[in-house]
This record gives sequence, C-alpha cells and structure tokens, in this order.
Amino acid sequence: MNPQSKTAKAVACANIALIKYWGKRDIALNLPAVGSISLTLEALKTKTRATFDPNLDKDYLIINDQQGSESQRKRIEKFLDIIREKSGIRLFAEVKSDNNFPTGAGLASSASAFAALSLAATHASGLELNKKDLSGLSRRGSGSATRSIYGGFVEMKKGKDASGKEDFAIQLASQDYWDLRLLILITSKDEKKMGSTKAMNLTAKTSPYYQEWVKSSGKDLDEMRKAIREKDFEKLGDLAEYSAMKMHALTLSSRPPVLYWNSTTLELIEQVRALRNNGIPAYFTIDAGPQVKVISLPDHINTLKSHFESFPGVENIMESKLGPDVELIGDDN
Ligand code: PMV
Repeated sequence: MNPQSKTAKAVACANIALIKYWGKRDIALNLPAVGSISLTLEALKTKTRATFDPNLDKDYLIINDQQGSESQRKRIEKFLDIIREKSGIRLFAEVKSDNNFPTGAGLASSASAFAALSLAATHASGLELNKKDLSGLSRRGSGSATRSIYGGFVEMKKGKDASGKEDFAIQLASQDYWDLRLLILITSKDEKKMGSTKAMNLTAKTSPYYQEWVKSSGKDLDEMRKAIREKDFEKLGDLAEYSAMKMHALTLSSRPPVLYWNSTTLELIEQVRALRNNGIPAYFTIDAGPQVKVISLPDHINTLKSHFESFPGVENIMESKLGPDVELIGDDN
C-alpha cells in the first residue's frame, strides 16, 4: 500500500424495520417522509474497508471480491464526495465491501453497507464524527443506513427542517434490553425487481393511499415505542405485521404496481399465521423483496427453524439475535 494512503475498516449490521420507512420528503437530501423503528441484526454483517490513495484515478468499488457495477460505483462516488467536502481530503478511494448475506435482494444490504462505509471512510479521511452525525451522513447513502449506526432497537426521526439537520436515528434500547430472535427466510437470491428509491418515488406520485400512509405513521411509531417500552411482544408483532402490510399495499397501489413477493412469500405469511394460531409467538415482516423475516422469542426459535427448514421454496434460513453498533475493526478481520 502507498505510504501516503489512508485506510480504515468498519463492520455494521443490517437492520429490519418494524415500522417501515417508505417515501421521501426531499429526494436530493434523502429526507424521509415518515419516521421508522428497527431491530439491528447481528447475523447480517457488512465489513467495509475504505482506502484513500494518491495513486487512484477515480473511486473503485469491490463487493464480495467482484468489481461493483458502474451504477453502484457512481453511488459510492457521490457519497465519498460528501466526505471529501467535509474532510478536505482530495484523494480517490478504493472501497472493499463484504457481505455475509445476498446483496440487493431485500435484505437491507444498503443499510449495513452505508453504515460501515460512513464510519470507515470518515475515519480514513481524518474526520471523527459522533454517532448522531454518522447517522445523518449515512442517510445520504440510504435512509435505512441511518438506523444501522446503532445496535438494538433504533428509531429514525423524521425532521421538519429543510436542511435535514433533524433527520438522524437514535437508539431506543440496546441489544441486551430484550432478547428477540429472528429467522430470515430466503425465498430468492435474485436482485430485487425495483430499487427502493425508485419504488418510493413512484408510490408517492401514483398511489392514492400515499398521503394517508404519511399521516398515519406518527400513531404507528407511538404505539411501537410503547410496545418496546412495555416489552409487549404481541403488540410489537401485531404492529410490525400491520406496518409491513401497509407498506406493501402502497407499492401494490402504485402505477404500474410493484409486487415484491413471490408465491413462497405468500405461503410463508399463511404459515406464520397458522403457527400463531397454534400458540407459537411468531410474527412476520417483509421489506422491498420476497424474503420473510419471522420475529419470535428464544424459547420458540428452534421449533420455528425446524418447521421452515424443509418448507418448499425456502432456499436458505438465517437466524439472528439483535446486533451491536457499527464499529471500527482491524484490517485482518
Ligand atoms: O433506505 P432504503 O433505500 O434502504 O429503503 C428502505 C426501505 C425498506 O427497507 C422497505 C423499509 C425500511 O424502513 O427499512
């Protein structure tokens, strides 16, 4: 490595929203139209090394040992430009990112990716940001990345100010507060049909339900905060399913409609409901992809896992506890 290059490496966990973020009030600054609440997932990690190097002629992106696509590279370049502007560093960077889960298939890879990149690249550039500012910076890469700066239970705030200075995430409770368990049921490893930014903007423009979605989000957030405060698992699960269904109702009601599910997704929804009717505490949530995440408690996770292991259409299962904050790691990690 060039002796004048500056490098740092960080690890961040993906997160899954219990109350979904969908819609932007400012596209350029990536300001959310609604707040959101999530769980940080220990099992889904991105490790990112950022190296500013005087020998580079542009920014480079390597994801899972493969050259990133030109559109992915451009997205990173735009993000690094913000760091260059803030830190004064004049060098291009090589960004090397490794996920231990499928990229771009509705598993929040952009959340862990931009959270890890925010910390690694700011640190390498010589800029030391606190968690609040790191969260605000991550937002410029991806809205859900704001939440992956923190472990445990996290809320992304929707600010009012046009500058975006109030739009960052806060931690509601740490990963040790409540031992929730998740199963991530992977029903397809294909890249998602439409990226979340494009789909959100389409929804905002064309869904007749969009304004109601924005208007009703404050109540969902209040109730979810209360469920977390009271450790009321049924309430948390019920609200999570409601928010996920409401979000998918939005994408389905846009023109053209966007359907993220496949037939296995739908079967899994029915399975989770049936298991619940048989007394197993399990609730589902689904992001902009066909994977189903099941939220449950430690005593029931093995029963659920064996139930879904042989379920037709489930290609892979990941199990997760709640994960920690983003952190810097050594280069040999
Ligand atoms: O910020 P993005 O582009 O990763 O969008 C996230 C959208 C959802 O994952 C569907 C919901 C959420 O709150 O994470």
